[in-house]
Amino acid sequence: MQIKPFGVEMWMNAYETRCELNLAETCVDSITLGALLDMAGQRATILDELLPIRLGYGDIEGSDRLRDAIASLYAKQARENVLVCHGTIGANALVHQALVSRGDHVIAVVPTYQQHTSIPESLGAEVELLWLRAEDGYLPDLAALKAMLRPTTKLIALNNPNNPTGALMDRAMLAEIAALAGAVGAWILCDEVYRGVDQQGDGFTASMADLYEKGISTAGMSKAYSLAGLRLGWIVGPRALLDAANIHRDYSTISVGRIDDHLAALALEHRDKILARAHKITRDNLAILADWVAGEQRVRWVKPKSGTTALLKVDLPMPSRDLCLALLDEEGVMLTPDSAFDMEGTVRMGYACGTDVLRQGLERMTRFLARKGNR
Ligand SMILES: Cc1ncc(COP(=O)(O)O)c(C=O)c1O
Repeated sequence: MQIKPFGVEMWMNAYETRCELNLAETCVDSITLGALLDMAGQRATILDELLPIRLGYGDIEGSDRLRDAIASLYAKQARENVLVCHGTIGANALVHQALVSRGDHVIAVVPTYQQHTSIPESLGAEVELLWLRAEDGYLPDLAALKAMLRPTTKLIALNNPNNPTGALMDRAMLAEIAALAGAVGAWILCDEVYRGVDQQGDGFTASMADLYEKGISTAGMSKAYSLAGLRLGWIVGPRALLDAANIHRDYSTISVGRIDDHLAALALEHRDKILARAHKITRDNLAILADWVAGEQRVRWVKPKSGTTALLKVDLPMPSRDLCLALLDEEGVMLTPDSAFDMEGTVRMGYACGTDVLRQGLERMTRFLARKGNR
């Protein structure tokens, strides 16, 4: 099977273990197993829970306890509508494999996580791109979406909150998109791995699976819950879709690790504490970043409303990749060039790292910009 190389993952793999200050990371600063157990009040008792677990494959679709905890993140979902997967990346891949065939028409918003364009392309679909533009606050132009839709459109792939822009479609916009899709009977896959860290309120915006009968939501433990090391994600959607995904999942997954399943359930049951920490980090850090942007004449942006990333337009006469490589080389600070998203003219910053890392990284970037800008 031919597939395009995954731009952003290749960039991360090449440099993330070699930088000093990682402002390319998209997870809310990951936590240790000890911190998770402390938040769950289980440090003293965890072995009593883990030792009796028989290390067989376990419940194939995920334990009931975990699927109930996942269902509780949604307004209208039950255990039967949840399929546990190997990360959100595994969940997304399965949805595309289950729905998309050669010749199908697929619409994907871009920039996005490259899975949503490259997997359907590799499956032989005709993938039309709906570009999100800075002048629209990186929200989709719904008139353009309507014009792209065909009676045969199979799938619309969204990402909300969006990586890399940090834009957030609200409930009303999601409902409008659902109505457009409903008119032609298209499925909607909404990758919601950043759901839970909106800058306002409780951090949660409505989920597509709750809004549309052919709506599918994917998400996982990596971003808002700071637990990428569990490699645990899920698909939430109509049972018939999960059954179709299972046909592929039997070939690629069987089940997820039983310890991962257990720890993910524990984390979701104690999510108040994990999310309170995530909100503090994402909100404090975005305020710091906003002050920095306001003070840097060479930097402009659309301020994010959610997620963990922002696109920065940097006024220097160099392509984004050269800029990122020079910054890495001269200051040890890692960003992501937008060329990894098939764009040009911005860089992506992940700002949900430890606050100290962000502050130091911004100081070094100020130095870098002054040096390069004065040439
Ligand atoms: C939009 C999006 N979807 C999916 C993933 C993969 O997440 P996971 O670690 O849950 O597999 C990422 C990771 O960066 C992402 O940004």
